[in-house]
Amino acid sequence: MQSIVVLGALAAVASAQCGDSVQLGYTCDPEVSHYWGEYSPFFSVPSLIPPEVPWGCDITFASVLSRHGARFPTSGDTKDLVGLIDQIHKQTTSYSPQYAFIKNYNYTLGANLLTPFGQVEMVQSGQAFFERYESLARKYTPFFRSSSDERVIESAQNFSLGFHEARTQAGASDSSYPYPLQILSEDPGTNNTLFAQQICPVYANGPDSNINNAAEDTWANVWIGPVQTRVNDNLKGANLSSSQIIELMELCPYNSVNQGVISQFCGLFTDLEWKYFDYYRTVDKWYEDMQGNPLGPTTGVAWAAELIARMTDNRTYVTDAQSYTSINHTLDDSQATFPLGPGYPLYADFTHDDNIFSIYGALGLYNATKNLSNTTYESAEQAGGFSSSWVVPFGGRGYFEKMSCVGEPEELVRVVINNRVVPLQNCGADLLGRCQLSKFVASQTFVTDGGLWNQCY
Ligand SMILES: *[C@@H]1O[C@H](CO)[C@@H](O)[C@H](O)[C@H]1NC(C)=O
Ligand SMILES: *[C@@H]1O[C@H](CO)[C@@H](O)[C@H](O)[C@H]1NC(C)=O
Ligand SMILES: *[C@@H]1O[C@H](CO)[C@@H](O)[C@H](O)[C@H]1NC(C)=O
Ligand SMILES: *[C@@H]1O[C@H](CO)[C@@H](O)[C@H](O)[C@H]1NC(C)=O
Ligand SMILES: *[C@@H]1O[C@H](CO)[C@@H](O)[C@H](O)[C@H]1NC(C)=O
Ligand SMILES: *[C@@H]1O[C@H](CO)[C@@H](O)[C@H](O)[C@H]1NC(C)=O
Ligand SMILES: *[C@@H]1O[C@H](CO)[C@@H](O)[C@H](O)[C@H]1NC(C)=O
Ligand SMILES: *[C@@H]1O[C@H](CO)[C@@H](O)[C@H](O)[C@H]1NC(C)=O
Ligand SMILES: *[C@@H]1O[C@H](CO)[C@@H](O)[C@H](O)[C@H]1NC(C)=O
Repeated sequence: MQSIVVLGALAAVASAQCGDSVQLGYTCDPEVSHYWGEYSPFFSVPSLIPPEVPWGCDITFASVLSRHGARFPTSGDTKDLVGLIDQIHKQTTSYSPQYAFIKNYNYTLGANLLTPFGQVEMVQSGQAFFERYESLARKYTPFFRSSSDERVIESAQNFSLGFHEARTQAGASDSSYPYPLQILSEDPGTNNTLFAQQICPVYANGPDSNINNAAEDTWANVWIGPVQTRVNDNLKGANLSSSQIIELMELCPYNSVNQGVISQFCGLFTDLEWKYFDYYRTVDKWYEDMQGNPLGPTTGVAWAAELIARMTDNRTYVTDAQSYTSINHTLDDSQATFPLGPGYPLYADFTHDDNIFSIYGALGLYNATKNLSNTTYESAEQAGGFSSSWVVPFGGRGYFEKMSCVGEPEELVRVVINNRVVPLQNCGADLLGRCQLSKFVASQTFVTDGGLWNQCY
């Protein structure tokens, strides 16, 4: 698969640098980029169930929910990162050898937009989607939608290009390229199923709107002290605060995903410290978007209802009284702007990490994960497959599939997130993690009952 090539390149650079860092006792893990939380570049997550389409089955439906590709820091974060480097340059009186490169480091990253590497990630994601679903994708073009942020739209375009190139290479004709793309506005006051968090006022501004920050601070306090002491010993006079240590760590992924080459900042921290950083990002997202936040999953309920409507070819799920969530009924009531049925077995939607987490929360995909500890590290394996890097890395993708299988009268539903099968819950899943469509829909009472959206006001 194409996507492995670039990751392979990332990994190869990491081991090349290992020669230097081994003697200093710092990170030498070729998979270090898997511990950067949601700043990890896409990678194939280990799966307990083979992710391939099972023998005797044909895919009849596939919907991808994709995060944008690797991006530069947001403009808000850019201010902090520039301030960090300025402070180091102004105050440091002596750099230890391993930190000396920072003296000549100039902050030149862009802001908000995809990095060059992030664009390539998305082209490869489009190719991978075509290849996985080729039997349908030769003939059917996905119905594409994107939230309106520039980096998200660009991700949809880069994905489309990859899909188109793969389709052409497979010898299928493709006169429909460039494909139509429906853009859902992120402007305040707009109903949007791909960007719903700000539309739920109690979520955005209510009493629980900061519990993720409280949770991640609690976790940082457990481990950051010795790291802060060590960094300040190596940058005499810099006097970095504990939150600036986190920012210094962020410079590792941000510089690495710019061109796809592991940055020197990565080697300043140990493998264990990267796991703790990863968990810091994981705790943040659990208490921001998932079951750790009383209204986290609620903000994902509208897209979940759309998925059920698409899977069942039944518009009722997006038009009935329970669907007065963040759905734009002008769009979803109409076949032209929210198509369903036999001509539409493929869908591709693009948005941001938080929205994807909340949608997975609404669907109950990680219901087996207990509220994460704020004081004890839990690996993704220990947390039921949940971590920011496993679930929504840069270029992260969730595949929602239906398949028709020999000897099985009803279509089966399966969910594959970053190539890991996430076994469905509460619907009598088989050993391959699949449920019958009717049982899957019956398990989605949280969504079909309105997902507590009435608590948003
Ligand atoms: C950073 O900028 C300074 C001043 O313009 C320059 O002397 C230095 O070479 C630059 N460092 C790098 C690594 O480009
Ligand atoms: C990604 O999309 C943007 C906007 O359409 C385009 O400028 C850029 O060249 C694309 N990148 C790749 C690698 O195709
Ligand atoms: C619904 O979508 C239509 C078409 O894009 C748009 O004109 C309208 O402003 C949207 N309404 C709301 C409330 O989001
Ligand atoms: C983690 O911290 C958050 C915020 O303080 C809190 O709501 C949550 O209950 C804590 N979780 C556990 C398992 O202690
Ligand atoms: C170090 O920074 C803290 C604020 O983070 C400040 O209170 C303290 O005075 C600084 N110490 C020195 C020696 O600059
Ligand atoms: C998880 O924690 C949140 C608060 O952070 C709380 O509302 C929820 O009830 C907890 N869930 C369980 C299963 O304890
Ligand atoms: C569509 O779904 C609704 C709600 O579950 C159900 O009442 C209705 O019978 C379904 N319609 C069809 C044609 O299956
Ligand atoms: C937008 O969402 C609100 C809240 O669910 C709803 O009352 C309103 O009718 C929606 N507007 C459109 C155009 O769907
Ligand atoms: C997931 O758990 C929530 C309670 O946190 C529940 O409302 C929902 O029905 C569950 N979803 C599934 C698919 O089991």
